[in-house]
Amino acid sequence: MTQISVRVDGASYADDVEPRTLLVHYLREQLGKVGTVVGCDTSNCGACTVHLDGESVKSCTVLAVQADGSEVTTIEGIAEGGELHPMQRAFHEKHGLQCGYCTPGMIMASIDLLKNNPNPSEAEIREGIEGNLCRCTGYVNIVRAVQQAAGEMSSTAGAQA
Ligand code: FES
Ligand code: FES
Repeated sequence: MTQISVRVDGASYADDVEPRTLLVHYLREQLGKVGTVVGCDTSNCGACTVHLDGESVKSCTVLAVQADGSEVTTIEGIAEGGELHPMQRAFHEKHGLQCGYCTPGMIMASIDLLKNNPNPSEAEIREGIEGNLCRCTGYVNIVRAVQQAAGEMSSTAGAQA
């Protein structure tokens, strides 16, 4: 066992983990963060996407020990004060989901996309989320949701500037 210290969704944790424990399993099984899901065993689907020190990562490709000393944000940590994150609200309003299994990872990847490119074109959105697979929607409403959130988030940022 190895001890790690990590902040997850704003709370601090110190836990013993097996050196081989994947971050996604640590989040789900030790911390109960079951909003982050596992959709494949091939590192392909992106359903497990979280932010590690602000960068989007597939948490099934990271060992828990690699997160030692880091800040992790999951889908459960992005709402503030009981208000959905603009990206969560946009997925809801634009019907950017059907079964919802891909949605936590899709939202986390999309937030990271807008951090690097606040006003992406449709092609840039599709390229930005290409590591996240959705078997249900055909992606059209997902792209619309990201466009809505981009508009909202950049106007909020402008208002705050
Ligand atoms: S569960 Fe991580 S990429 Fe599919
Ligand atoms: S909504 Fe079902 S996999 Fe995307």
